[in-house]
Amino acid sequence: MNPDLDNLGQGFKCIRNDFATYIKGRKIKMECKSLTSKCWIVEHGNNLAGYITLMADKLTSEYCLLENEGIGYKTFPAIKIGWLAADRRAKGVGSRLLEWAIQYVTNDLTNRVGIRFITVDALFDPDTGYDISGYYERFGFEHVDSDHTAPCGNFRTMYFDIKSVIEQARALRQSV
Ligand SMILES: CC(C)(COP(=O)(O)OP(=O)(O)OC[C@H]1O[C@@H](n2cnc3c(N)ncnc32)[C@H](O)[C@@H]1OP(=O)(O)O)[C@@H](O)C(=O)NCCC(=O)NCCS
Repeated sequence: MNPDLDNLGQGFKCIRNDFATYIKGRKIKMECKSLTSKCWIVEHGNNLAGYITLMADKLTSEYCLLENEGIGYKTFPAIKIGWLAADRRAKGVGSRLLEWAIQYVTNDLTNRVGIRFITVDALFDPDTGYDISGYYERFGFEHVDSDHTAPCGNFRTMYFDIKSVIEQARALRQSV
């Protein structure tokens, strides 16, 4: 999971070409070298099956999302999913990477620094109608904007509450 960035992505085929170009190109190398992004990969043999990048973020909401916990802020510490892609021949790799990232942030990073949410700018392509927000909804991500039905750009910001995972794990432990 700690990729040799120089030889990454040969043969990688993604339903979105921009995600294949990104992993094969210079941009990801520059971002990782500059510490603005961290990349994890899944390989199948010597081939890239999927990748995910994570970075520090700040979630800004129009609402006080944690008011019922006595927290009056409208901005919150978060980790952002930058790029997530799977080879189109490798079913489920993207989901496994996303599940891994949620567990990694929850189990490892929250012990070291304050983080409440995982964020993602879910891709929406008005030219083709490609919309990945439904995919993230399946994992429990919610939309930041109350009117998310008509995105004006090419993404919709979504967030996932890490505390829900911690509470589910606690409830499971108590039930056994
Ligand atoms: C998004 C992506 C990483 C998902 O990879 P994956 O989890 O391996 O994808 P799979 O094709 O195995 O699909 C997993 C499930 O998600 C569902 N799904 C896929 N795209 C979806 C969408 N846009 N909305 C709702 N569900 C979706 C699939 O139907 C499948 O459901 P099933 O398990 O019930 O059969 C992959 O499609 C991809 O690389 N897309 C292009 C890049 C991209 O959009 N990245 C996200 C940018 S924010």
